[in-house]
Amino acid sequence: MLYIGIDLGTSAVKLLLMDSEGKIRNIVSREYPLYFPHPGWSEQKPEDWYEQSMEGIRQLLEGFDKSQVAGISFGGQMHGLVILDDQDNVIRPAILWNDGRTGEETDYLNNVIGREKLSEYTANIAFAGFTAPKILWVRNKEPENFARIAKIMLPKDYIAYRLTGVHCTDVSDASGMLLFDVKNRTWSKEMCDICGIRRDQLADCYESYEAVGTVLPQIADELGIPRTVKVAAGAGDNAAAAVGTGTVGDGMCNISLGTSGTIFISSKKFGVDKNNALHSFAHADGSYHLMGCMLSAASCNKWWMDEIIGTREYAKEQEAITKLGRNHVYFLPYLMGERSPHNNPNARGTFIGMTMDTTRADMTQAVLEGVAFALRDSLEVAKSLGIRLERTKICGGGAKSPLWKKMIANILNLKVDVIESEEGPAMGGAMLAAVACGEYDSVEQIAEKFVKVVDTVEPDPELAALYEDRYARFKQIYPACKPLFEILS
Ligand code: XUL
Repeated sequence: MLYIGIDLGTSAVKLLLMDSEGKIRNIVSREYPLYFPHPGWSEQKPEDWYEQSMEGIRQLLEGFDKSQVAGISFGGQMHGLVILDDQDNVIRPAILWNDGRTGEETDYLNNVIGREKLSEYTANIAFAGFTAPKILWVRNKEPENFARIAKIMLPKDYIAYRLTGVHCTDVSDASGMLLFDVKNRTWSKEMCDICGIRRDQLADCYESYEAVGTVLPQIADELGIPRTVKVAAGAGDNAAAAVGTGTVGDGMCNISLGTSGTIFISSKKFGVDKNNALHSFAHADGSYHLMGCMLSAASCNKWWMDEIIGTREYAKEQEAITKLGRNHVYFLPYLMGERSPHNNPNARGTFIGMTMDTTRADMTQAVLEGVAFALRDSLEVAKSLGIRLERTKICGGGAKSPLWKKMIANILNLKVDVIESEEGPAMGGAMLAAVACGEYDSVEQIAEKFVKVVDTVEPDPELAALYEDRYARFKQIYPACKPLFEILS
């Protein structure tokens, strides 16, 4: 049988066709625009996601026996607010995970409602990108739109809704809304009341590997696939990536170097970071995870390469980097503000330490290192909770760079296990579909069978020591700049 994994990302939708044995048969990617209508705002059109996903499925299946397609599922960009009226019209563009407009609403939730209560209801506090502050923003700033809301959904769930007619979500993605009681895997009545919304505006919540229904007959006919094709709830892109990289069960770690950067630690038991700097979310394998999320990771390098120095030759640019561990330039990668651990939408990208002999390669190196140092910030929080990690998997576009993987291994002092494909979320989505169709008994079982480590990047003690010293300096830059970020905002 064949399974389709749809990774609804921020720059593009990636679709992956996998067979019953876990072999990737085809991959297709289709881009859509990202809008920044104000500094720090970030929006997309759900219709663009749908059109490109449908076109992507057609392209993905070209030349394959469509009658063999059995299931479809997702990994989706998290936290985005999609609102529909009672005629199923999209009311306004989706407000995305990296949008920083909700400073006021986030402060209200954290300081007036209070962090303790939020953490008690949802296991998390408010971050600007989470969904609940966005709902409050629409209520405060666009009351006419708020009054029209019939359905609230997350990005990938809009695609599932168009494919099946079922208003559904899954536990991992629901966790990032700040409306979900993560521990008990159910909606929080208290949070609905705080946000002024009703339970019937929210979706039915499934485990990620559960089928929510089958594709609508007209969709099946349009795509030429059987009307029996099952759609599984899927997962937020990080939980889906964790499935795709075999980061399931207890104490496993995955780093994703995509538009965002995340460090994802799976756990059999529910647990909360006492300072709520790391998110405590439900996992797609039926258990839980902790996660640190930085808003700009591979996107910092893309910005630096494409927009500033004007090249698409990423690998060639990186060849000029020769003095690992010895750069005098530092970069704070906060181009869209920062989530973990600083929770500050006003933080900004910053270069510091340049002298007349600074080269273009030093600046490129600083960008790559800055992302790795910022991931280390989240790792430090995990360590402070008593979590001991020796190794991590890695996925996402940035994981294609051998140099970046080496920096990650040495700056975080972790063994970095490289798996066959870096297509984490799309692969995870296809695997969840296979479980939903009964091809495998559990997410753990399929992950054990499919995921193969092909290489390991080991930290080098000398280089790790140099980076230890540089990290100690990096750590001091954000606190020093913080008052300036407030003045500049
Ligand atoms: C996770 C997060 C990002 C997006 C990116 O909390 O906001 O990783 O899911 O797609």
